[in-house]
Amino acid sequence: METEIAGPEGIERAIAHLKAGRPVAFPTETVYGLGAPLFSEPAVAEIFRIKKRPTDNPLIVHVAGIEGLHALCPEVPGEALALCSAFWPGPLTLVLPQGEKIPPLVSAGHPTIAIRMPNHPIALALIRGVGEPLVAPSANLSGRPSPTCAEHVKEDLAGRVSMILDGGPCEIGIESTVISLVDRPVLLRPGQIRVQEIEAVLGQKVALPSKETPAHSPGMKYRHYAPKAKVRLCTNRSEIKSSFVLSLHPQEGERLLRKKDLFASFREADRLGVLAIDVDCSPELEEDLALLNRLVRAAESGP
Ligand code: TXA
Ligand code: MG
Repeated sequence: METEIAGPEGIERAIAHLKAGRPVAFPTETVYGLGAPLFSEPAVAEIFRIKKRPTDNPLIVHVAGIEGLHALCPEVPGEALALCSAFWPGPLTLVLPQGEKIPPLVSAGHPTIAIRMPNHPIALALIRGVGEPLVAPSANLSGRPSPTCAEHVKEDLAGRVSMILDGGPCEIGIESTVISLVDRPVLLRPGQIRVQEIEAVLGQKVALPSKETPAHSPGMKYRHYAPKAKVRLCTNRSEIKSSFVLSLHPQEGERLLRKKDLFASFREADRLGVLAIDVDCSPELEEDLALLNRLVRAAESGP
Protein backbone atom coordinates (compact mmCIF):
# COMPACT_ATOMS: atom_id res chain seq x y z
CA MET A 1 0.00 0.00 0.00
CA GLU A 2 1.22 3.51 -0.78
CA THR A 3 0.37 6.68 1.11
CA GLU A 4 1.25 9.49 -1.24
CA ILE A 5 1.21 13.23 -0.96
CA ALA A 6 -1.46 14.55 -3.29
CA GLY A 7 0.84 16.47 -5.64
CA PRO A 8 0.46 16.21 -9.43
CA GLU A 9 2.29 12.86 -9.59
CA GLY A 10 0.32 11.36 -6.72
CA ILE A 11 -2.92 12.44 -8.38
CA GLU A 12 -1.83 10.88 -11.71
CA ARG A 13 -1.01 7.61 -9.97
CA ALA A 14 -4.33 7.66 -8.12
CA ILE A 15 -6.15 8.15 -11.44
CA ALA A 16 -4.25 5.16 -12.89
CA HIS A 17 -5.24 2.98 -9.89
CA LEU A 18 -8.87 4.02 -10.20
CA LYS A 19 -8.94 3.40 -13.96
CA ALA A 20 -7.50 -0.05 -13.31
CA GLY A 21 -10.38 -0.75 -10.91
CA ARG A 22 -8.44 -0.34 -7.65
CA PRO A 23 -10.18 1.81 -5.01
CA VAL A 24 -8.20 4.81 -3.71
CA ALA A 25 -8.72 6.80 -0.50
CA PHE A 26 -8.74 10.55 -1.11
CA PRO A 27 -9.60 13.77 0.73
CA THR A 28 -12.81 15.75 0.40
CA GLU A 29 -13.82 18.86 2.34
CA THR A 30 -15.94 16.71 4.71
CA VAL A 31 -14.06 13.45 5.41
CA TYR A 32 -11.77 11.11 3.43
CA GLY A 33 -13.62 8.97 0.89
CA LEU A 34 -12.81 5.56 -0.57
CA GLY A 35 -13.40 6.01 -4.28
CA ALA A 36 -14.13 3.77 -7.25
CA PRO A 37 -15.43 4.56 -10.76
CA LEU A 38 -19.23 4.44 -10.78
CA PHE A 39 -19.48 2.05 -13.73
CA SER A 40 -16.74 -0.36 -12.68
CA GLU A 41 -18.77 -3.01 -10.89
CA PRO A 42 -15.79 -5.04 -9.59
CA ALA A 43 -14.22 -1.87 -8.13
CA VAL A 44 -17.52 -0.93 -6.47
CA ALA A 45 -17.81 -4.45 -5.03
CA GLU A 46 -14.24 -4.11 -3.76
CA ILE A 47 -15.23 -1.00 -1.76
CA PHE A 48 -17.79 -3.02 0.20
CA ARG A 49 -15.18 -5.71 0.84
CA ILE A 50 -12.45 -3.25 1.92
CA LYS A 51 -14.76 -1.39 4.31
CA LYS A 52 -16.61 -4.55 5.47
CA ARG A 53 -19.72 -2.58 4.59
CA PRO A 54 -23.15 -4.26 4.49
CA THR A 55 -24.27 -4.42 0.87
CA ASP A 56 -27.71 -3.00 1.71
CA ASN A 57 -26.11 0.38 2.47
CA PRO A 58 -25.93 2.46 -0.75
CA LEU A 59 -23.07 4.74 -1.81
CA ILE A 60 -22.89 8.44 -2.66
CA VAL A 61 -21.96 9.25 -6.27
CA HIS A 62 -19.49 12.15 -6.54
CA VAL A 63 -19.66 14.35 -9.63
CA ALA A 64 -17.42 17.19 -10.81
CA GLY A 65 -20.21 19.54 -11.89
CA ILE A 66 -23.92 20.00 -12.40
CA GLU A 67 -23.64 18.28 -15.81
CA GLY A 68 -22.77 15.09 -13.91
CA LEU A 69 -26.12 15.34 -12.14
CA HIS A 70 -27.99 15.85 -15.42
CA ALA A 71 -26.22 12.87 -16.99
CA LEU A 72 -27.44 10.57 -14.21
CA CYS A 73 -30.91 12.06 -13.61
CA PRO A 74 -32.63 13.18 -16.80
CA GLU A 75 -35.44 14.90 -14.91
CA VAL A 76 -33.82 16.89 -12.16
CA PRO A 77 -36.50 18.50 -9.97
CA GLY A 78 -36.41 22.30 -9.63
CA GLU A 79 -35.76 21.98 -5.88
CA ALA A 80 -32.58 20.03 -6.62
CA LEU A 81 -31.34 22.65 -9.08
CA ALA A 82 -31.98 25.39 -6.53
CA LEU A 83 -30.04 23.50 -3.85
CA CYS A 84 -27.16 22.75 -6.22
CA SER A 85 -26.79 26.34 -7.27
CA ALA A 86 -26.82 27.42 -3.62
CA PHE A 87 -24.54 24.77 -2.12
CA TRP A 88 -22.48 22.97 -4.79
CA PRO A 89 -19.65 22.34 -4.78
CA GLY A 90 -20.10 21.56 -1.11
CA PRO A 91 -21.22 19.24 1.67
CA LEU A 92 -24.76 18.59 0.45
CA THR A 93 -25.87 15.19 -0.90
CA LEU A 94 -29.16 14.94 -2.77
CA VAL A 95 -31.16 11.72 -2.99
CA LEU A 96 -33.16 11.70 -6.23
CA PRO A 97 -35.05 9.23 -8.37
CA GLN A 98 -32.61 7.27 -10.52
CA GLY A 99 -32.60 7.94 -14.24
CA GLU A 100 -29.80 6.18 -16.06
CA LYS A 101 -29.25 2.60 -14.97
CA ILE A 102 -26.50 2.54 -12.40
CA PRO A 103 -24.94 -0.64 -11.00
CA PRO A 104 -27.46 -2.06 -8.48
CA LEU A 105 -24.74 -2.41 -5.86
CA VAL A 106 -24.23 1.39 -5.81
CA SER A 107 -27.80 2.13 -4.79
CA ALA A 108 -28.25 -1.18 -2.93
CA GLY A 109 -31.14 -1.97 -5.25
CA HIS A 110 -33.08 1.21 -4.41
CA PRO A 111 -34.63 3.16 -7.32
CA THR A 112 -32.84 6.29 -6.08
CA ILE A 113 -29.36 7.77 -6.32
CA ALA A 114 -27.43 9.92 -3.82
CA ILE A 115 -25.26 12.57 -5.50
CA ARG A 116 -22.92 15.31 -4.40
CA MET A 117 -20.22 17.57 -5.88
CA PRO A 118 -17.37 17.80 -3.37
CA ASN A 119 -15.68 21.14 -2.77
CA HIS A 120 -12.12 19.87 -2.90
CA PRO A 121 -9.61 20.31 -5.73
CA ILE A 122 -8.11 16.82 -5.31
CA ALA A 123 -11.49 15.06 -5.32
CA LEU A 124 -12.54 17.05 -8.40
CA ALA A 125 -9.22 16.34 -10.16
CA LEU A 126 -9.75 12.59 -9.64
CA ILE A 127 -13.32 12.61 -10.96
CA ARG A 128 -12.27 14.62 -14.02
CA GLY A 129 -9.14 12.53 -14.55
CA VAL A 130 -11.02 9.22 -14.40
CA GLY A 131 -13.67 10.68 -16.71
CA GLU A 132 -16.67 9.34 -14.82
CA PRO A 133 -18.28 9.93 -11.42
CA LEU A 134 -16.68 8.27 -8.39
CA VAL A 135 -18.67 6.46 -5.75
CA ALA A 136 -17.12 7.13 -2.36
CA PRO A 137 -18.24 6.16 1.11
CA SER A 138 -16.18 7.45 4.03
CA ALA A 139 -12.78 5.68 4.03
CA ASN A 140 -13.15 3.99 7.43
CA LEU A 141 -13.95 0.43 8.39
CA SER A 142 -17.73 0.18 8.63
CA GLY A 143 -18.93 1.42 12.04
CA ARG A 144 -15.73 3.29 12.94
CA PRO A 145 -15.50 7.09 13.09
CA SER A 146 -15.05 8.67 9.65
CA PRO A 147 -11.42 9.56 8.82
CA THR A 148 -10.53 13.24 8.72
CA CYS A 149 -6.85 12.80 7.81
CA ALA A 150 -4.76 10.25 5.91
CA GLU A 151 -3.42 8.77 9.17
CA HIS A 152 -6.96 7.77 10.21
CA VAL A 153 -7.48 6.00 6.89
CA LYS A 154 -4.23 4.13 7.45
CA GLU A 155 -5.34 3.07 10.96
CA ASP A 156 -8.43 1.38 9.50
CA LEU A 157 -7.42 0.33 5.99
CA ALA A 158 -3.66 -0.36 5.98
CA GLY A 159 -3.09 -3.50 3.94
CA ARG A 160 -6.66 -3.39 2.58
CA VAL A 161 -6.43 -0.50 0.09
CA SER A 162 -3.86 0.04 -2.70
CA MET A 163 -3.41 3.77 -2.24
CA ILE A 164 -4.13 6.59 0.20
CA LEU A 165 -3.81 10.05 -1.30
CA ASP A 166 -2.77 12.42 1.48
CA GLY A 167 -4.19 15.90 1.01
CA GLY A 168 -3.91 16.98 4.64
CA PRO A 169 -6.70 17.26 7.21
CA CYS A 170 -10.31 17.77 6.06
CA GLU A 171 -11.67 21.25 6.54
CA ILE A 172 -15.16 20.33 7.80
CA GLY A 173 -14.53 17.04 9.59
CA ILE A 174 -18.05 15.55 9.48
CA GLU A 175 -19.96 14.05 6.58
CA SER A 176 -22.26 15.87 4.18
CA THR A 177 -25.87 16.75 4.89
CA VAL A 178 -28.10 14.22 3.08
CA ILE A 179 -31.50 15.42 1.83
CA SER A 180 -34.03 13.28 0.00
CA LEU A 181 -36.07 14.98 -2.71
CA VAL A 182 -37.73 11.77 -3.82
CA ASP A 183 -41.07 13.09 -2.60
CA ARG A 184 -41.23 15.92 -0.06
CA PRO A 185 -37.84 17.12 1.22
CA VAL A 186 -36.60 14.93 4.09
CA LEU A 187 -33.39 15.31 6.05
CA LEU A 188 -31.72 11.89 6.06
CA ARG A 189 -28.47 12.94 7.73
CA PRO A 190 -27.70 16.28 9.37
CA GLY A 191 -24.39 17.85 8.34
CA GLN A 192 -22.49 21.07 7.92
CA ILE A 193 -25.22 22.69 5.83
CA ARG A 194 -28.03 23.42 8.25
CA VAL A 195 -31.69 22.58 7.70
CA GLN A 196 -32.63 26.26 8.09
CA GLU A 197 -30.32 27.21 5.19
CA ILE A 198 -31.90 24.51 3.02
CA GLU A 199 -35.43 25.59 3.96
CA ALA A 200 -34.54 29.20 3.09
CA VAL A 201 -33.54 28.12 -0.44
CA LEU A 202 -36.50 25.79 -0.94
CA GLY A 203 -39.06 28.13 0.61
CA GLN A 204 -40.57 25.12 2.38
CA LYS A 205 -40.07 22.99 5.46
CA VAL A 206 -37.74 20.00 5.42
CA ALA A 207 -39.06 17.00 7.36
CA LEU A 208 -36.67 15.96 10.12
CA PRO A 209 -35.33 12.45 10.67
CA SER A 210 -37.96 10.30 12.33
CA LYS A 211 -38.72 6.69 13.04
CA GLU A 212 -39.72 6.34 9.39
CA THR A 213 -36.50 7.63 7.86
CA PRO A 214 -34.26 4.55 8.29
CA ALA A 215 -36.24 3.04 5.44
CA HIS A 216 -35.12 5.97 3.28
CA SER A 217 -31.52 6.11 4.46
CA PRO A 218 -30.32 2.60 4.97
CA GLY A 219 -27.04 3.75 6.53
CA MET A 220 -28.78 5.26 9.53
CA LYS A 221 -29.70 1.92 11.03
CA TYR A 222 -26.11 0.78 11.43
CA ARG A 223 -23.73 1.15 14.32
CA HIS A 224 -21.87 4.35 13.59
CA TYR A 225 -19.08 6.69 14.51
CA ALA A 226 -18.20 4.38 17.36
CA PRO A 227 -14.89 4.62 19.15
CA LYS A 228 -13.88 1.61 21.22
CA ALA A 229 -14.40 3.74 24.34
CA LYS A 230 -17.93 4.14 25.65
CA VAL A 231 -19.35 7.60 24.86
CA ARG A 232 -21.37 9.02 27.76
CA LEU A 233 -23.49 12.12 27.28
CA CYS A 234 -23.48 14.01 30.58
CA THR A 235 -26.24 16.58 30.94
CA ASN A 236 -24.83 17.61 34.30
CA ARG A 237 -21.17 18.21 35.12
CA SER A 238 -21.56 16.09 38.26
CA GLU A 239 -21.92 13.01 35.98
CA ILE A 240 -18.42 13.44 34.53
CA LYS A 241 -16.17 10.62 35.74
CA SER A 242 -13.73 9.91 32.91
CA SER A 243 -10.30 11.48 32.49
CA PHE A 244 -11.20 12.05 28.82
CA VAL A 245 -13.74 14.86 28.65
CA LEU A 246 -15.07 16.77 25.63
CA SER A 247 -16.69 20.11 26.35
CA LEU A 248 -17.72 23.27 24.49
CA HIS A 249 -16.23 25.10 27.48
CA PRO A 250 -13.38 22.88 28.61
CA GLN A 251 -12.05 23.17 32.13
CA GLU A 252 -8.46 22.30 32.94
CA GLY A 253 -7.42 18.93 31.51
CA GLU A 254 -10.55 18.69 29.32
CA ARG A 255 -10.63 18.82 25.53
CA LEU A 256 -12.49 21.27 23.32
CA LEU A 257 -15.56 19.72 21.69
CA ARG A 258 -15.53 20.81 18.05
CA LYS A 259 -17.34 19.29 15.09
CA LYS A 260 -14.18 19.44 13.00
CA ASP A 261 -12.18 17.47 15.61
CA LEU A 262 -14.86 15.12 16.93
CA PHE A 263 -13.81 12.00 15.02
CA ALA A 264 -10.12 12.73 15.68
CA SER A 265 -10.95 12.99 19.40
CA PHE A 266 -12.71 9.61 19.29
CA ARG A 267 -9.63 8.07 17.67
CA GLU A 268 -7.31 9.77 20.16
CA ALA A 269 -9.31 8.29 23.06
CA ASP A 270 -8.87 4.84 21.52
CA ARG A 271 -5.14 5.33 21.09
CA LEU A 272 -4.90 6.32 24.75
CA GLY A 273 -6.95 3.25 25.64
CA VAL A 274 -9.49 5.13 27.76
CA LEU A 275 -12.63 3.17 28.58
CA ALA A 276 -15.03 6.11 28.46
CA ILE A 277 -15.38 9.51 26.82
CA ASP A 278 -17.54 11.88 28.86
CA VAL A 279 -19.22 14.63 26.86
CA ASP A 280 -20.29 17.76 28.69
CA CYS A 281 -23.68 18.32 27.01
CA SER A 282 -24.42 21.96 27.67
CA PRO A 283 -27.78 23.21 26.28
CA GLU A 284 -25.99 25.10 23.45
CA LEU A 285 -25.23 21.74 21.87
CA GLU A 286 -28.90 21.55 20.82
CA GLU A 287 -28.15 24.27 18.29
CA ASP A 288 -25.80 22.05 16.32
CA LEU A 289 -27.91 19.21 15.01
CA ALA A 290 -25.03 17.60 13.11
CA LEU A 291 -22.67 17.48 16.07
CA LEU A 292 -25.44 16.32 18.40
CA ASN A 293 -26.48 13.62 15.92
CA ARG A 294 -22.94 12.16 15.74
CA LEU A 295 -22.61 12.23 19.53
CA VAL A 296 -25.96 10.53 20.08
CA ARG A 297 -25.20 7.88 17.46
CA ALA A 298 -21.79 7.22 19.02
CA ALA A 299 -23.32 6.98 22.50
CA GLU A 300 -26.03 4.59 21.25
CA SER A 301 -23.53 2.35 19.52
CA GLY A 302 -21.75 1.43 22.71
CA PRO A 303 -18.44 -0.41 22.80
O1 TXA B 1 -19.38 13.75 3.22
C1 TXA B 1 -19.73 12.68 2.73
O2 TXA B 1 -20.89 12.47 2.35
C2 TXA B 1 -18.66 11.57 2.62
C3 TXA B 1 -17.61 12.01 1.61
C4 TXA B 1 -16.58 10.96 1.34
O3 TXA B 1 -18.23 12.45 0.44
N1 TXA B 1 -19.27 10.33 2.24
C5 TXA B 1 -20.02 9.60 3.10
O4 TXA B 1 -20.47 8.39 2.58
O5 TXA B 1 -20.28 9.96 4.23
P1 TXA B 1 -21.07 7.21 3.48
O6 TXA B 1 -21.22 6.07 2.55
O7 TXA B 1 -20.23 7.03 4.65
O8 TXA B 1 -22.50 7.73 3.86
C6 TXA B 1 -23.50 7.79 2.87
C7 TXA B 1 -24.87 7.92 3.51
C8 TXA B 1 -25.31 6.62 4.17
O9 TXA B 1 -26.03 6.93 5.36
C9 TXA B 1 -26.22 6.02 3.11
O10 TXA B 1 -27.18 5.14 3.64
C10 TXA B 1 -26.85 7.26 2.50
O11 TXA B 1 -25.81 8.22 2.48
N2 TXA B 1 -27.32 6.99 1.13
C11 TXA B 1 -26.57 6.69 0.04
N3 TXA B 1 -27.36 6.44 -1.02
C12 TXA B 1 -28.63 6.60 -0.62
C13 TXA B 1 -29.90 6.48 -1.25
N4 TXA B 1 -30.02 6.15 -2.53
N5 TXA B 1 -30.99 6.70 -0.50
C14 TXA B 1 -30.87 7.05 0.80
N6 TXA B 1 -29.71 7.17 1.47
C15 TXA B 1 -28.60 6.95 0.77
MG1 MG C 1 -19.62 6.43 6.42
